Amino acid sequence: MPDICDLILDDHEVFRRRFAELDDERRSDPRTVAPLWEALAEHLERHAAAEEDVFYPDVLDRLDEGEHEAHHAVRDHNKIRDAIRRVADAEPGTEAWWAAVDAANEENSDHMAEEERGPLSAFRQAGIEDVRKELGQRFIDFNLEHAGGRELDTDDVDPDAYVEERGTG
Ligand SMILES: [Fe+2]
Repeated sequence: MPDICDLILDDHEVFRRRFAELDDERRSDPRTVAPLWEALAEHLERHAAAEEDVFYPDVLDRLDEGEHEAHHAVRDHNKIRDAIRRVADAEPGTEAWWAAVDAANEENSDHMAEEERGPLSAFRQAGIEDVRKELGQRFIDFNLEHAGGRELDTDDVDPDAYVEERGTG
């Protein structure tokens, strides 16, 4: 059975690997690096949206620090979205493009570390295996539904409104 904590951690490992591959290709042709980035950007967007749809509503309800954690995560996701937009505005392979890719890497790696130490760790410690599996299945379903970025909303999310509206009660 899928487990939400493992699925999120698996995505984080993929992100670390993909950013490392972009480091390896720092001297390569723009035609090589642009598609590598495009695939990574799509995955980063889908991952953030899937977490906001499936994981953080439960974080909001379940954890004592849920409101703080969810608010913080949404703000981090917006920073990552902003960095992705800055990459899209630059010419692939230019200094400005790489600077924006590096900024996305920094925002994302800071966020992943906090998520792993915070809510992911709390969920593992909470003895809620059934919930983790149910959320895991929904995380998979969300990713299938929006594979390749299909009908994925990549706009910023208002963290105040999110915390207000998304608790599942
Ligand atoms: Fe996240």
